[in-house]
Amino acid sequence: MKILVIGSGAREHALVHSLAKDEGTEIFCAPGNAGIAREVTTFPLVATDSGQAVSLATQLAVDLVVIGPEAPLVAGVADALREAGFAVFGPSGEAAQLEGSKAFAKDVMIAAGVPTALSYTCQTETQVRDALTEFGAPYVVKDDGLAAGKGVVVTGDFEEALAHGLACISGRTDGAVVIEEYLAGPEVSLFGVTDGKTVRALSPAQDFKRALDNDGGPNTGGMGAYSPLDWAPENLVAETIERVLQPTIDEMTKRGTPFSGLLYAGLALTSNGIKVIEFNARFGDPETQVVLSRLKSPLSQLLLAAANGTLAELPELQWSDEAAITVVLAAQGYPQDPVAGAAISGLEEAHESGSFVYHAGTKATDSGDIVVSGGRVLCVTGTGTNLADAREKVYAGVNQIKFAGSHHRTDIALQASRGEIEVP
Ligand code: AMP
Ligand code: GLY
Repeated sequence: MKILVIGSGAREHALVHSLAKDEGTEIFCAPGNAGIAREVTTFPLVATDSGQAVSLATQLAVDLVVIGPEAPLVAGVADALREAGFAVFGPSGEAAQLEGSKAFAKDVMIAAGVPTALSYTCQTETQVRDALTEFGAPYVVKDDGLAAGKGVVVTGDFEEALAHGLACISGRTDGAVVIEEYLAGPEVSLFGVTDGKTVRALSPAQDFKRALDNDGGPNTGGMGAYSPLDWAPENLVAETIERVLQPTIDEMTKRGTPFSGLLYAGLALTSNGIKVIEFNARFGDPETQVVLSRLKSPLSQLLLAAANGTLAELPELQWSDEAAITVVLAAQGYPQDPVAGAAISGLEEAHESGSFVYHAGTKATDSGDIVVSGGRVLCVTGTGTNLADAREKVYAGVNQIKFAGSHHRTDIALQASRGEIEVP
């Protein structure tokens, strides 16, 4: 089976790495990055350009296209590929609005009876002020549109909340901001693979959104992740399928915009039960790096079945009992103003120490050096018999890698490894 993966992050590196392990697969990636190019053939591509994607898929005569990031999905790249006759893993542009518009996602959740935070969608200063006053601190203020994980401000400071709310609506005719109640409780990322009818949940993971240790600093795209979640309630997956994933998928079908691909539920486990914090329309990054490390069933069969509408016939997914942890090494200045260009050393040594290094923002220079080219640079990933063991392995790898301005969190999976996470 020939498969083209679209995207250039560590998530796509993990997808490529897993797909390439399956028997009988030949994998291509566009545009990829320096790490992906070491494993498979890569091609230049503007990921949001439907015409280019169709040309490349045609030239390579692929059997399946897997779209990694949200931007091409929202831009309708999956639609163009399907119209050209390709099997595609990833939702249509209309269905990807579940991620592309937080107000749309709220509307679907309310219609489907999915538990989520109470919210208002605001378009004027008065509405923003009233909503903030009604919910009180801590304030949760979300840009309606795509913002690469940086459109959300959670703060106890009214003025900061107001300023972000106004920035989201000012100067844009269709600008909207979602203001919602604060949800207290541990967060879980749960991925549902769906063909628009059936859904298969993957093993849950936890992401670390804040830039600094102990959840300090600004929100980022994600600074690390681990799986499995030994502390999560036993019925979490079954309950999420029943109350969140299946009703959402059914509601999208009812609206005439069926969702097929990956429905990512970002959940808070609150004292009032599970609540959806956000939906994404694609695999999470960096959670994919740990979830796929533990998947024993062939990923290519799973994604093809979702693309072909045959998920109900697929055998149950098999998982490794091992724990997996990934730690993001970020560029100087990330997330505000990442600085590109620093030369990276120690990649071989990290591999030798027993961890696997997925590349995100890297590129190879003409002389063969690997340099920083994005905010999140590398995802060092380790597995072990338990989280404490996996932490030793992954940080042994992290400590081998050097580049100017590199920073990472040192507490990924620390609380969980000590049994300190409590579900209210
Ligand atoms: P989102 O992009 O919607 O996932 O938001 C980014 C991060 O902000 C989440 O992972 C949470 O840590 C935090 N967050 C978002 N919504 C809420 C909420 N209603 N209550 C508490 N924290 C939230
Ligand atoms: N790690 C969060 C996300 O992929 O949106």
